[in-house]
Amino acid sequence: MENVSNDSKKVVLSLVQASGTPTLGNYLGAFKNWHEMAEDNDCIFGVADLHAITVRSKPADLRRRSIEMYAMLLALGLNPDKNIVFLQSHVQEHALLGWILNCYTQFGEASRMTQFKDKSTRHADNVNVGLFTYPILMAADILLYNADMVPVGDDQKQHLEIARNIAARFNGIYGDVFKLPEPYIGRHGAKILSLQEPEKKMSKSDPNVKAFISLTDPTDVIVKKIKGAVTDSEARVYYGEGKAGINNLMTIYSCCTGKGMDDIEREFEGKGYGDFKAAVAEAVAEELRPLREEYERILGDKAYIEKCAAEGADKARAIARRTVRKVMKKVGFYQI
Ligand code: TYM
Repeated sequence: MENVSNDSKKVVLSLVQASGTPTLGNYLGAFKNWHEMAEDNDCIFGVADLHAITVRSKPADLRRRSIEMYAMLLALGLNPDKNIVFLQSHVQEHALLGWILNCYTQFGEASRMTQFKDKSTRHADNVNVGLFTYPILMAADILLYNADMVPVGDDQKQHLEIARNIAARFNGIYGDVFKLPEPYIGRHGAKILSLQEPEKKMSKSDPNVKAFISLTDPTDVIVKKIKGAVTDSEARVYYGEGKAGINNLMTIYSCCTGKGMDDIEREFEGKGYGDFKAAVAEAVAEELRPLREEYERILGDKAYIEKCAAEGADKARAIARRTVRKVMKKVGFYQI
């Protein structure tokens, strides 16, 4: 590959939607793995701003969220000189390949996407076609760069499957054009749940702000939200059936401290939920503090952010163009 060189390395790609301040769920389910993988692989990370317009927002909000999310990726330590860090809308090939892949996706298979069903219920006043074709644009994001591995949380697994199916179908017709991407789902943290309704995932678009921890929440807010997390009346810390709230807090604690579930159970034997929640809050606050400080520092340097975004787009575009040219030739578009 151009710019992300060295054949022995894997191409790792993942994007995050520009739809609000990222949460602890994004961090533990995705970002933490991105950061770990960035050392030894050729990594491409991006802000999915094209995906974000499937839900209506004010132009100024979209602009702000996009650049803030980009700054967050830099704050994570995803070195923009070594990796490609870019905004999706800066590389128009995403939309172009997305269109082409639409024509290689069956209506039935797209209809089976649970996220579409879920989002169309939540945004019943705006069930636009973009919401429906969302996973196909996501397939284009991945296939443009011939990604080997896509580190995501559990909720994106189905989208990865459809991306693989589309790629396999296309390859079946035209020969080996696309690499089939593998999802990379971390052992822990793949599904961080809402602090208020621990049956559903923690989401940055949850209207109840007590349900999620934002990566920019200061320590006192983190403490308050974790203290107020919904648990159960048993007052015994262990991982088990019917304890979704405690299981979730244990998962969060485990991800932040590296401790296993058995160790955590032993640590809090004979102690109540108050002590446990205080420890979880401290661990989360400690984990996020350096990230928040770095984010605020980077956000103050707009020229640096824009320079990185422009360079990232150039590097991404060089790869994306090559793929699109190959795809167009295969499909039979007239070339001059
Ligand atoms: P998005 O923006 O919803 O989330 C970004 C990443 O965070 C993970 N995640 C979670 N993991 C664990 N627990 C949670 N509560 C939680 N919430 C979110 C997501 O699984 C994701 O990995 N469609 C994607 C963005 C996208 C993309 C791509 C991803 C666009 N193109 C190409 C990979 C490859 C999305 O909406 O993620």
